[in-house]
Amino acid sequence: MLPLKIFVGVKQRRYAIIREVCETKKLPSVLVTESCSVHTLNSDNNKRRMNDAKILGDVERYYSEKIEFHGATARGVDWNSPDSQRLRFVQLLKLTDHSQPFTINDYGCGYGALADYLKGEGYAFQYCGFDISPRMIAKGVELHAGMQEVAFVSKEQDLSEADYTVASGMFNVKLQASSTEWESYVLRTLEAISRLSKRGFAFNVLTKYSDPEFLRPDLYYADPLFFFDYCKTKFSRFVSLIHDYPLYEFTILVRKQ
Ligand SMILES: C[S@@+](CC[C@H](N)C(=O)[O-])C[C@H]1O[C@@H](n2cnc3c(N)ncnc32)[C@H](O)[C@@H]1O
Repeated sequence: MLPLKIFVGVKQRRYAIIREVCETKKLPSVLVTESCSVHTLNSDNNKRRMNDAKILGDVERYYSEKIEFHGATARGVDWNSPDSQRLRFVQLLKLTDHSQPFTINDYGCGYGALADYLKGEGYAFQYCGFDISPRMIAKGVELHAGMQEVAFVSKEQDLSEADYTVASGMFNVKLQASSTEWESYVLRTLEAISRLSKRGFAFNVLTKYSDPEFLRPDLYYADPLFFFDYCKTKFSRFVSLIHDYPLYEFTILVRKQ
């Protein structure tokens, strides 16, 4: 890409020039320090940040209302039943080697039901839950006050790397976002999840193989083969796609070692 040069301080014109040059690939007659690719990157990043902020704000409100209304129950995190919530945990935890102690991040933890499941199974673990909804986190803290092995954080940057990260139900409710916007948000979030995971991570998403008559415009139905391929090419050679349990979704396990 050719470096472009333009007058600083002629803002309106500056962007017009950059656009023009990007389109025509000719150098303008006026000059200094910018390039098409840098400009495009910056404006794409800004757009993305604004999109993410809008998405996260809407999602936070949606789930906060759920727990406010239904309390710390499966319905309070928008699941139909405790059985389906538990069945998801069973799939996601196929990732872990529970013959030895492990650390686990629960990304989009709700009120921390996974911590109770892990405890109930008798595993040796250190759990850290993160959720975008402060109400979910407050509930999690209140319910697990006596459990040394359980902690919660309300900011993503306060999560540490763990052996595993799991994300259950994070990617289903897209609300007003378009499927394209939502998909790129999901992929960016998977990157963050991967960075937090030493040995691997797992997540679930609603499947495009759902009965057409039940599809809803506010939900995101993903192509399991796309996500399998994406994880296999982007994150690890060791990827499992689980799509044989009786819910309209699939689970992906990404093992790094
Ligand atoms: C369907 S609920 C499931 C909660 C929990 N994983 C469970 O299965 O009991 C999804 C949760 O993810 C949280 N969430 C959604 N998007 C998030 C994001 N980008 N970062 C953190 N939490 C998020 C929501 O606030 C909500 O509590």
